[in-house]
Amino acid sequence: MDIATTPTNPEGNPELADAAHMPTDPPVIRREDYAPFPWLVPETALDFKLGADKTVVTSRLMVRRNPACEYAGTELRLNGDGLSAASVSVDGAPFSDHAMDGPDLVITLPGSSHEVEIVTEINPSANTQLMGLYASNGMLCTQCEAEGFRRITFFPDRPDVLSTYRVRMSGPRSDFPILLCNGNQEASGEGEDGTHWAEWHDPWPKPSYLFALVAGDLVANSATFTTMNGREVELNVWVREEDLARTDHAMESLKKSMKWDEDTFGREYDLDLYNIVAVSDFNMGAMENKGLNVFNTKYVLADPDTATDADFDAVEGVIAHEYFHNWSGNRITCRDWFQLSLKEGFTVLRDQLFSQDMQGEAVKRIEDVRILRAAQFPEDAGPLAHPIRPDSYREISNFYTATVYNKGAEVIRMMRSMAGPDAFREGTDLYFDRHDGEAATCEDFVTAIEDGTGLELAQFRRWYRQAGTPRVQVSQTLGSDGLDVTFKQTVPDTPGQTDKGAMHIPLRVAVHCRETGALGNEQLIELRHDEQTITLPLAGPVPVLSINRGFTAPVVIERDLETEDLVFLAAKDDDPFARYEALQDLAVRHLVAAASFELDEAGRAAGKLALRDAFRSIITDDSLDHSMRGELMMLPSETYLFEAMAGTDSAGIRKADPGQIHKEREQLKAAIGVGLKRELESLYAQVADIAYDDPIGRGARKVKTQIAALFAASDPERAAIMASRQYDAADNMTDRQGALMVLCGLQSPSREERLQAFYDRYKGNALVIDKWFTLQALSLHPDVIDQVRALAQHPDFTMKNPNRVRSLYMAFAGNPQGFHAKDGSGYKMIADVILALDPINPQTAARFVSPLGRWRRIESVRAGLMKAELERIAGADGLSRDTFEQVSRSLDG
Ligand code: BES
Ligand code: ZN
Repeated sequence: MDIATTPTNPEGNPELADAAHMPTDPPVIRREDYAPFPWLVPETALDFKLGADKTVVTSRLMVRRNPACEYAGTELRLNGDGLSAASVSVDGAPFSDHAMDGPDLVITLPGSSHEVEIVTEINPSANTQLMGLYASNGMLCTQCEAEGFRRITFFPDRPDVLSTYRVRMSGPRSDFPILLCNGNQEASGEGEDGTHWAEWHDPWPKPSYLFALVAGDLVANSATFTTMNGREVELNVWVREEDLARTDHAMESLKKSMKWDEDTFGREYDLDLYNIVAVSDFNMGAMENKGLNVFNTKYVLADPDTATDADFDAVEGVIAHEYFHNWSGNRITCRDWFQLSLKEGFTVLRDQLFSQDMQGEAVKRIEDVRILRAAQFPEDAGPLAHPIRPDSYREISNFYTATVYNKGAEVIRMMRSMAGPDAFREGTDLYFDRHDGEAATCEDFVTAIEDGTGLELAQFRRWYRQAGTPRVQVSQTLGSDGLDVTFKQTVPDTPGQTDKGAMHIPLRVAVHCRETGALGNEQLIELRHDEQTITLPLAGPVPVLSINRGFTAPVVIERDLETEDLVFLAAKDDDPFARYEALQDLAVRHLVAAASFELDEAGRAAGKLALRDAFRSIITDDSLDHSMRGELMMLPSETYLFEAMAGTDSAGIRKADPGQIHKEREQLKAAIGVGLKRELESLYAQVADIAYDDPIGRGARKVKTQIAALFAASDPERAAIMASRQYDAADNMTDRQGALMVLCGLQSPSREERLQAFYDRYKGNALVIDKWFTLQALSLHPDVIDQVRALAQHPDFTMKNPNRVRSLYMAFAGNPQGFHAKDGSGYKMIADVILALDPINPQTAARFVSPLGRWRRIESVRAGLMKAELERIAGADGLSRDTFEQVSRSLDG
């Protein structure tokens, strides 16, 4: 059978360019085209002759026909990316019946079972994309998810081809004293001319994206963990020598994760060794390679002097996430990349539940909802919207999104809320049991949860198919048997999807009484229709509905509550999330109305007063701990306010005005700062001197910085003094960074002094210097664009390191003042970054497109400027698949 009649494979063979060699758009890969791979690869043997500039890879694949596959051809298609085969042998003899088809190698095999050997040569030092085998800081490491393995050797690089790997590697001992791979080390020894070698074997069949290899000059923080069945596991956190002192928190986090997964999900680790390696050049946060996780240093290294409380939590959460993948991802992997949420959504839920147990449920839930609203809601409302199980892609790297991850986690959390934790555990036990060792689908997961819990999830499956954040309009009337509440739901149109069906939406609700203060009992209701009315029991004569408590469902609730009701909920609701929500609602309502010029002076003043009073009750409520207080004191982000401003207008006429939103939000901060000066001063005095490791120290630090931020708006001089003092007295990064953040937004000599002091103190510590860039790029200073331009010329700035690029430019793209500068200079800066970065690291470059893609929801002058920048990028020659896809989707919508 020739190539032209080969059945469509899910990798999508590139369409042949036409005779005139016109460049073609990268092909679209569709979920509906899935077909199993015609060959099985039960065993893979790899040999690496390692060198930074030249590595020779010899790969031996045992292949045999896949009996589950109807394909009757003789071709074995092996994916490659930028490779050429130095030699091909079959069954031990040189073999010539093969050809390149685009980047792939196609071998025509005579029989149904063969041993195929292929030699490739690669240059890790030249690999700036950081996909495949690359050099970082003198070491060699790999990143193979999603399609990086094909940059190392020719292979069926798709997640449903599972193979056991035996790996031999050799290289100069002086450059690479430590040689690591998946599984267990089975042999090692000395070679010639100062080389040494090691052989590793991973007994668990795995897809190629979980392959990993690391070679370098590393030292380990080592420990052991005894599993629930008494097996001893060796744990190592590998870093460069100078970083060893900052690895204890990572190690503790790993042990806690292992214990928690046994206790909570009954999952035990399955190898005798668990290695984590920290690398400083990494596109993502971390990667769950079997037995050999590779981490961005950012999510490993932490000590009080260099990492904030939030950084400590992030390390704990990411270590947990990658560890949890050992079951939700590795033992059960994905059939194809459309099923990505099967492993990522579920694993995010697992890491969120873990962190809730470690840090406190309420605060963690609020933080997770804040992230969802800041990152996922805008995505779901824009040109890049897609279902948690996408239908098509050109470049899969573009689909590691807040939708697949965070909304994916919310969807599974809803099933858990409906089933209850115990029944949910029955469901996950069944899932792990039923699909262990397989490459599964989202459908397999939902079916297992259905069978294990007894839930009926037919309509619920729409959450996997339909993009867009559902909106639920709520209205109420006092009936004879209680409160009659009417719910109308709609799912907005998204690219390629209109006329969507009603969602199955679980909501935890309660009806309180504002007059008596009586709190109603909570119940879970389930919406299934476009419109329905449900009668809820009353707790007293003046009912106040508390709805979507704990954020049971990732929806937008629209309702007309009186300000007094929101103030009551903010002060009195027994669900901490509902208190937070009421306060956010108050702020959103006021800020959107004010920024849209819908309020007269009296209305504006009344809104500020209501918020001031609500803040007073938060500040003075002794029943709150400081962590929760600090959380409640945060106003909604400007990004979330844009969505609210553009989104509350169903006619689609009102657009977000970033300038107005920023102005109103700063004015509200100032009003609260002025109105509550005394209370804030006294709270600051209470928390200022609490010791770093006091049990309430964390909460105290959070509150301190929130207060300084309010004063920065109301009384900049006072704030400068306060923040400088806090900076000078700080014995930890949280206080130091918080103070510097406030100073960065002020026009005060203290700003430059402390920035310089910070730089001098931490010069040479890459992760902290990243913070130094970020603080300035995020600042509220009016000259932020010029400052960012100057920082790009700083000797420490480089486009080659993703952490550094993000520290400056992702921060800047998230700084509404700078990015949305009226003259478009912020948009141009980000477009220039995309064009400069695309040839170096397309995956990272493409992630800068989405901020520009929001143009349709923004007022017309800025919208035109944003669109023009997207068009300028689209017109550039030689764009990567990654950037091409994101820019064209952003323009087409
Ligand atoms: N499997 C991913 C890493 C990954 C992402 C590889 C995209 C290739 C492309 C890993 O499990 C992951 O999800 N990491 C997250 C952090 C996590 C805590 C959500 C990341 O890297 O951002
Ligand atoms: Zn993950």
